[in-house]
Amino acid sequence: MGASGSGKTSMRSLIFSNNPASLTHRLGATIDVEQNHVRFLGDLILNLWDCGGQDAFMDSYLSTQQSTIFQHVGVLIYVFEVESRSSSRDLEYYAECLQALRKYSPNAAVFLLAHKMDLVRPPRGPVLERKAAELRQASGDTEITVFGTSIYDESLYKAWSRIVHTLIPNATVLTKHLAKLADACNATEIVLFERTTFLVIATSSQHPSQTPPAPAPSALPSPSASTPSTLSSFGSHTSHASVLPEEEDSDPHKLDPTRYERTSELIKAFKQSCTRVREEFHALEMELADFTAVLDELTKNTYVLVVAHDPTVETAALKMNIRLARKKFE
Ligand code: GTP
Repeated sequence: MGASGSGKTSMRSLIFSNNPASLTHRLGATIDVEQNHVRFLGDLILNLWDCGGQDAFMDSYLSTQQSTIFQHVGVLIYVFEVESRSSSRDLEYYAECLQALRKYSPNAAVFLLAHKMDLVRPPRGPVLERKAAELRQASGDTEITVFGTSIYDESLYKAWSRIVHTLIPNATVLTKHLAKLADACNATEIVLFERTTFLVIATSSQHPSQTPPAPAPSALPSPSASTPSTLSSFGSHTSHASVLPEEEDSDPHKLDPTRYERTSELIKAFKQSCTRVREEFHALEMELADFTAVLDELTKNTYVLVVAHDPTVETAALKMNIRLARKKFE
């Protein structure tokens, strides 16, 4: 949800329909609600509702359609333009949506996207901080997570990977299996991507800032879980800054904290290039001086990226292990 023109359909078309950012200006206003069904991991289907943001539609969602729109919500994603100080009407709509959400889906998680960060003149950190403070105030005691996003860089993948991660009921089991596979491969890290969106579903290492809110008994994140509201920001400015150096200290390979979302963005762009020359993307292998990496299909709906910093590990061995692990993940 979010005001008309804030960028909801653009991000949906980028992530879920693989359209380039440059074509989003052609998108028309969404009329009422557009629904998308995205198959994630076998039987898990993401049911995505893009709610047109014009006032007439918002009024209708909050009156006659309230029980339809806000029932059985797993996650509310509310999009705000970062540069425009939200008008009081915008914030009123947001507050009313929160109220309806609490009534019909009290366990739903709330993610707020401070969008169009590319329009902010650097340094962007303080602008995002200000916006997050404004939104936190408007949210009262509802637990929220704020991301700074833009369709022109990887920040959108970071936000959406995190959002999708909270909806995957067996994410911790996946992490455990990936950790086991990483062990078998002598890999530094393994990352699991959804096939079409290339969003990160799980990784072998539980990054502190990736920890989703504690699940409620219904397996949905609970607003009453006592995780503080988090601000996960654009680029490398992040309120998790106090956590990241700790991780880097214990990380001999100095892995880039933006590696997940950057891989999503790069591979998707590469897949689009393949399509343009009528080729299909299958797999990727890299053997460089200090690391070896394989990106390959794991199941029908997933790709896996295995990265090893052990010079004795060859890509053929990684590929064989991926093949052997397939059955376990299907
Ligand atoms: P409704 O369907 O009316 O609710 O609007 P919407 O929120 O779906 O907006 P839409 O996705 O149609 O985007 C409106 C405009 O914002 C388009 O021209 C996009 O190109 C532009 N836009 C979307 N995301 C970004 C972004 O991250 N940065 C910039 N600069 N422009 C963006």
